[in-house]
Amino acid sequence: MKLLIAKDYEDMSKKAAQIIIDQVKQKPGSVLGLATGGTVIGTYKMLVDDHKRHRTSYKQVRTVNLDEYVGLHPSNKNSYHYFMKTHFFDHVDLPANQTFIPNGLADQVEEECKQYEQLIAQLGGIDLQLLGIGRNGHIGFNEPGNPFSSKTHCVTLTESTRLANARFFKSVDEVPTHAITMGISTIMKSKKILLLASGTKKAIILSRFFNEEVNEQNPATILKTHKHVTIIADEQALSLM
Ligand code: GLP
Repeated sequence: MKLLIAKDYEDMSKKAAQIIIDQVKQKPGSVLGLATGGTVIGTYKMLVDDHKRHRTSYKQVRTVNLDEYVGLHPSNKNSYHYFMKTHFFDHVDLPANQTFIPNGLADQVEEECKQYEQLIAQLGGIDLQLLGIGRNGHIGFNEPGNPFSSKTHCVTLTESTRLANARFFKSVDEVPTHAITMGISTIMKSKKILLLASGTKKAIILSRFFNEEVNEQNPATILKTHKHVTIIADEQALSLM
């Protein structure tokens, strides 16, 4: 596990973007595992800036997103489809049919999860998975207690996650109760993993991450057993270490 200490959010985003750019340059047909949330917005902004300036190309890249809310239409501003389009997909040369996000509107959610898991395998697995971390240690939407063996599945979101994400909605009542997420085992199969954390709101969970044994009540701790994990955290996120 490698820890890169960033000065602040901007520095974290810059360092993360550089790792993704290097990956795409080394392997233009990379499969990138992508994440949503406030933490990664700056990284996408840097990737878009770099694409404009240096023409780093995503023409051969395939992307698979970690998760999506159940019940939100892709045109809903709070859907992760919408997030990805506005923050990244619309601004680079990535063909739309090479981007994949779980379908939160699927009639047969179980079947959708199964197919998504198969799709990732058919793409040859994930080369580099980008991750944020929830304040309760969730990665993707794998909430505390979720088995490490889980594959892509539907989850009931915890009250704390719904409250944390309510800032993007008009009220907490509008935050969906369920989501489809890659499972922990899906994430762990990625060849490389890049976890980002910024700000004092992530300080408690980061100190728990570094100090606790691997345990399912703190899902992110499993990353300590992965062969190729880089964590980029800023000074505020590391302030309780
Ligand atoms: C969300 C997402 C996660 C994300 C996390 C942190 O619920 N499902 O993939 O990493 O919460 O979000 P933020 O970056 O906004 O703190």
